[in-house]
Amino acid sequence: TAPLRLGIAGLGTVGIGVVKIVQRHADLLAARAGRPVEITAVSARDRTKNRDADLSSYAWEDDAVTLAKRDDIDVFVELMGGHEGPAKDATEAALKAGKDVVTANKALLAHHGQALAELAESLGRTIRYEAAVAGGIPVIKTLTEGLAGNGIRRVMGVMNGTCNYILTRMEDAGLPYDTVFEEARALGYLEADPNLDVGGIDAGHKLAILAAIAFGTQVAFDDVTLEGIGRISIDDIRRAGDMGYKIKLLGVAQMTGRGLEQRMTPCLVPATSPLGQLTGGTNMTVLEGDSVGQIVLRGAGAGEGPTASAVMGDVMDLARGLRLPVFGQPADKLEAPTPAVTAIP
Ligand code: NDP
Ligand code: HSE
Repeated sequence: TAPLRLGIAGLGTVGIGVVKIVQRHADLLAARAGRPVEITAVSARDRTKNRDADLSSYAWEDDAVTLAKRDDIDVFVELMGGHEGPAKDATEAALKAGKDVVTANKALLAHHGQALAELAESLGRTIRYEAAVAGGIPVIKTLTEGLAGNGIRRVMGVMNGTCNYILTRMEDAGLPYDTVFEEARALGYLEADPNLDVGGIDAGHKLAILAAIAFGTQVAFDDVTLEGIGRISIDDIRRAGDMGYKIKLLGVAQMTGRGLEQRMTPCLVPATSPLGQLTGGTNMTVLEGDSVGQIVLRGAGAGEGPTASAVMGDVMDLARGLRLPVFGQPADKLEAPTPAVTAIP
């Protein structure tokens, strides 16, 4: 059977993780997909950089757009990041050249997901993005496949591990926000622009994508009510604890009589609930379906192995011929933002 041929743009943490899985599990992937899964060509900024994988059997392209258009790839795997520039240009070029796309790029999808979805669907192609929401947790697959028979009532989640680390560490060590923020920076947890993490923007990107899938709507990042964790004090955390609550940067999306409500804000959650017990850099998503009730998924939201695992789940769907539509229809907008701090039952 013809192999599924991948072109990978971006050979950083996630890209190299994908290369390693394809190399380590070649037989397993071929057996599961019923066809070989191979890498044909790769691209990154610096060809001379020493990378933690053997890339010698793959063609090299300096330019991601050129890679995306190569005749000898079937799937363009975008792992560069950034929502303008090469990630967007190469994704569009790949679709126009008849390739399907797999990406981990939540910023790209939050800002341009709808236009890219429309482009893909007009060309009979698809974009898969499991790794863009909660890293290694297969939450998109759970919603689109396992819960396909449910009306979704609400989706919630802690989707930024860095913020959860900071809040948990403030609580455990009794340290102020600024001290823990610097610790997180020293540990390399923060994005190049830390406001993406602590301003709630990265988590807001993820929520907008998750909500579109859950409710069959368009990705509407501009409609997410956003508040980060920068104003949370150690006293806030102590007072919440005295009342039996924890403070989490929690995303909540639900369909209301006024339209789709999306909030990514610090929330009080009961200390004994699964969300309240989530510590460190872990992620959790909570899905509520009308038949299944509540499902809780917990796992690594970042890192080489977990994120590459999610990318490969998408690659394997494409290898097996499973091609789902990208997003849904427009959502009615809320008239007014909702309060920033909310208690979650
Ligand atoms: P890295 O910064 O580790 O790697 C980025 C890679 O893309 C590098 O190989 C870099 O090249 C290449 N690159 C960057 N800009 C360009 C450009 N303009 N042209 C060509 N190549 C470019 O990023 P990650 O692997 O951490 O993240 C990749 C994507 O996955 C991002 O969208 C990120 O948001 C997403 N993601 C990451 C997670 C994680 O845990 N790291 C978790 C979930 C999602 P070079 O190496 O030569 O500099
Ligand atoms: N900065 C992100 C986080 C990385 O802390 O969760 C994974 O998307």
